[in-house]
Amino acid sequence: MHRLLEEIWDRGVVTNSGPIQAKFEESLRPAIGGETQLFLANGYSALRIMLAALGTQGQVIVSSFTHPATVQAVLASGLEPVAVDIDPHDLNISVEAVAAAITSETIAILATHVFGNPSDVDELSRLADAHSLLLLFDAAAAVGVMYRGRPIGEYGNASAFSFHATKVLSAVEGGAVVFNDMETAAKARSLANFGIAEGGPLLAGMNAKGNEITAAIGLTSLPLLADEIEARTRLRQQYSAHLDSLESMSVIPIRIRSVYNHSTFAVRARTVDGRHLAEPLQGYLRARGIESRRYFSGRYSNPLLNDRDHPHATQASEDVICLPLWGSMSARDVGEVCRTISDFLSEASLR
Ligand SMILES: Cc1ncc(COP(=O)(O)O)c(C=O)c1O
Repeated sequence: MHRLLEEIWDRGVVTNSGPIQAKFEESLRPAIGGETQLFLANGYSALRIMLAALGTQGQVIVSSFTHPATVQAVLASGLEPVAVDIDPHDLNISVEAVAAAITSETIAILATHVFGNPSDVDELSRLADAHSLLLLFDAAAAVGVMYRGRPIGEYGNASAFSFHATKVLSAVEGGAVVFNDMETAAKARSLANFGIAEGGPLLAGMNAKGNEITAAIGLTSLPLLADEIEARTRLRQQYSAHLDSLESMSVIPIRIRSVYNHSTFAVRARTVDGRHLAEPLQGYLRARGIESRRYFSGRYSNPLLNDRDHPHATQASEDVICLPLWGSMSARDVGEVCRTISDFLSEASLR
């Protein structure tokens, strides 16, 4: 990292498509796929540029259980988000709900790979093809994820990824959009730099550029990704062995034929007799020094989520809790979290 920073400083090129950014983009291909990769300021910018590059207006179908950024990017792009329910099994967008929401105004499906776990890309592709819709993915948490032996960004027309500090591959802040169409990619590169292009600026431009410093951080972190995923895989097995024995807890299943990055360890704390357990469990863990997250509920919820139209997503927002998981976490720490969860359930008489 030190050497790269010196190199950047000596060269005097710190932003606007320098050589480190180009190298990072090229190196990302095995981890995210796509014909072309564009390194950008963050995952939100990647969503914005992906949508701006479409150059059309209309409705975009999104999941009701996703980060607020997904919907905010659609709205900020002058498009109309239509939120649909999820599959309660894996929390990804429900293909049936997407099919029911397609109208003559629909231009695209923007499916989130929730917690990096692949959506039903096969069925979504069939549906998109049948209705001549674009298929886009919010793949913010899916860096390093493979499906049917291919990086997840190989599916659909385009995908947006995040390298935020909380993600499995961090550039502190950063994102990437990948396109499976060269022409759109060239347009997107210009849109990310105020739309500046030969013949005058394109209208939907913004400043979404990455820079040499964050690209250097990403490039330095990239060779560590495989070990990070492997370590997380082992820790998840340890977690699962314990949690699978508890009736009130269930681990979210991973799509078959995929290699998961364990970006987030999401579990459901079941609602028993109308009692929601995830929130009190979070408080119990916090009081004992264990941090968890309630993605995507409360302050992280999709602003379009409503219980009338999205009963499964509403239930997920009550039940899901994301437990601590990172590669250098010790087996002892995982054991401690598991014991604390068991204590909580015993005290709540719910073991
Ligand atoms: C599903 C999803 N979409 C978009 C984003 C936004 O990414 P960023 O924080 O890099 O802007 C996130 C961030 O956590 C996310 O989880």
